[in-house]
Parts: sequence; structure tokens; C-alpha cells
Amino acid sequence: MSKARVLVTGAAGYIGSHTIVELVKAGYNVVGIDNFSNSKPSVLDGIAAILSERIPFVEGDCCDTATMEKLFRDYDDIAATIHFAAHKAVGESVREPVKYFRNNISSLLNVVQMSVAKGTSIVFSSSCTVYGEPDPENLPISETAPRKSAESPYGRTKQFCEDILEDSVKAYPNLKVTLLRYFNPIGAHPSALIGEMPGGVPENLVPYITQTAAGIRSELKIFGKDYPTPDGTCIRDYIYVCDLARAHVAAVDRMLKDKDAPRIDVFNLGTGRGLSVKELVDAFISVNKVALPFSYTDRRNGDIVQVWADPTKAEKILGWKADTPLDQILKSAWEWEKKVRNIQ
Ligand code: WQD
Repeated sequence: MSKARVLVTGAAGYIGSHTIVELVKAGYNVVGIDNFSNSKPSVLDGIAAILSERIPFVEGDCCDTATMEKLFRDYDDIAATIHFAAHKAVGESVREPVKYFRNNISSLLNVVQMSVAKGTSIVFSSSCTVYGEPDPENLPISETAPRKSAESPYGRTKQFCEDILEDSVKAYPNLKVTLLRYFNPIGAHPSALIGEMPGGVPENLVPYITQTAAGIRSELKIFGKDYPTPDGTCIRDYIYVCDLARAHVAAVDRMLKDKDAPRIDVFNLGTGRGLSVKELVDAFISVNKVALPFSYTDRRNGDIVQVWADPTKAEKILGWKADTPLDQILKSAWEWEKKVRNIQ
């Protein structure tokens, strides 16, 4: 039987690139699209080195309707689209909301329009941000928890996109959708050939840690030590990017093979383990045996105190579990940074 083809938007991105590797390993054909607005063409070389083959790729913008129409014409065997392409920097979204609403929503609308026209499925890259600040009694947070007002325009685009997809499934009987709500993706492929490549000063914690350990940054600033948590720093659910990638394969498998699956479903993708910033810093230092200068500073606007996932629905229905040990994840992050910086 010929292998089903999956379109990956944001193919050169952090999660997109790791997901392509897992899709091909699982026997899918892939075609990728990326406009390199927040990624580099060299990522495609890393994917090719891991897979020993180059995946079909189109350089283009998902917001451009003609580009998407041509893509679906040229690859008329696309069975599902995993839609990663979006701007995702929380802080930048506060400064430039129009850029975020235009890009993140227009790109999704094109994916929906093409999927409805071709009768294909969608896996949407959503985020735990849609829950806002969970009430402590709702932790670990499950998919049935109420969505609160987003803390940023970035989070609001994720909420809007989930609503667009829910309305679209109601309107178009041939559309199937899976919403995947990520917690905090970290780490890099064990080959150290692909990993997280933040442009400029990293917003996220782990790339800032690895760049500090590499001497690129002078010191990690921990944003706030006065939160109502055991050590005063924020708590998150840090999930290995390769485990996260494998969840996307499981979601595509289910939509293409399980005819009894609901036409729209939502899954939290986390480990179920809450970790404070200070705990993660200590673990990184201990497992990689590196110096990591850090100090505490003021809270960062928009940060929530604590969130971690109840991952049981994805375990039960997708047969998927994020089970890579934290030490292995933090080692992969450091090996990747050393590779990028040519550090022995
Ligand atoms: C984690 C913790 C910071 C940097 C965001 C998005 C989320 C997802 C992941 C896309 C917080 C602290 C950070 C630093 C620090 N993005 N921190 N010093 O904000 O939980 O989630 O990125 O899918 O949707 O909201 O991740 O890594 O930025 O921060 O102390 O230099 O680390 O305050 O407590 P966040 P993060």
C-alpha cells in the first residue's frame, strides 16, 4: 500500500523538524513548507542527515493562498496537514499583536480551506497557554479545564484558531481535526543534528540556559523568586521535543486509521511532572557538570505561576507517553548547543 503523505507547515521549525523525522521513521511520506521567517534552511540539511534522504520541500508562506493551492495541486496525495507555522514569541506578540493575529490566523484559514476542498485532516499545534493561569485545584490540568482569557495575543491566537477549527468541523462534514496542546518543549534530537534555534536573544528558558553555559550569555536571570511555589520560582511541564514529535504521529495515525474517532478531539501533551525553574537549573548543572552563573530578578510580565499536564487522555487514546528521563533531555540540549558552537 502506498504511504500516506503528510504536509508539515513550519517544516524548518523546532517542533516541525523533529516531527518530520518521526513521521518518516513511522513510514509516512512528507512534504514540508516554510518561509524561513523564524528558521534556517540548514535545518533541512540536518533532517536529511538523520534520514539519509531529503524530504520534498517548498519555500513559501502559508498565508499566501496561491502558494497553498499550488502545493495541494502538486502533492495531490496529501492525507493530513500538521500545522506548526505560526509566530510564537509571547513577549513579541504583546508588542506586535497585529502581526500575530494576521499571520497565525491567515495561515490557519488557508490550511482549513485547502483541507476542506481536498477532504484531508488537520493536526493543529496548540498550546497550554489556552488555559491561562490554572486554578491550583485544577492542577494537573486536563483537557476539560476551562480556557481562561489568554495572557497574551500569542495565546489568544491559539484560542481563536481552536475556535475556528471547532466551527469548521461543524460546518464541513469531511473535515477531521486534532488539537494538540503542548506544554514546554525542550531538548534536541539525540544526533545533535537538529535542535532549537532561537533567533537573537532566546525568550525561552532552556536555550537561554544552554547559551549561558556556552558563554554566549553572561548570566541566566531567573524571573522571580517570590511566587507562591515551594522554592518561589515558576513551575512548568517540560516535555522532550522528540516525545512531542511522536505524539503527532500518533494523532495522524488515529485520524487516518480509526474510523470511529470523533471528527475533532483535543489532547494535552505534557509529562504530568511540574518542575520549577530552579529545579531545572540545578538538574542542568548536575547532569552536564557545567558552570551556570545565574541570579534572581523581577518577575516577567505575562508569566503564569504554575501549570503542568494531566497526560492520561493522550496515554489512553493515542497510546502515547512522554517518558524520556529529564537528565537525558537536558543532556541532549547541551550536546546540541555544543555542536552549534563547536564546543568540544
Ligand atoms: C519558562 C519559565 C520564565 C527565560 C512559552 C509559551 C508557550 C510555549 C513555550 C510555544 C518561566 C522562566 C525564562 C529566562 C526565566 N511556546 N524564564 N529566565 O513562558 O512557560 O511558555 O514558551 O509553544 O506557549 O507561553 O516558557 O521558557 O519562556 O519560560 O526565568 O531567561 O522560565 O519566567 O517561568 P513559557 P519559557
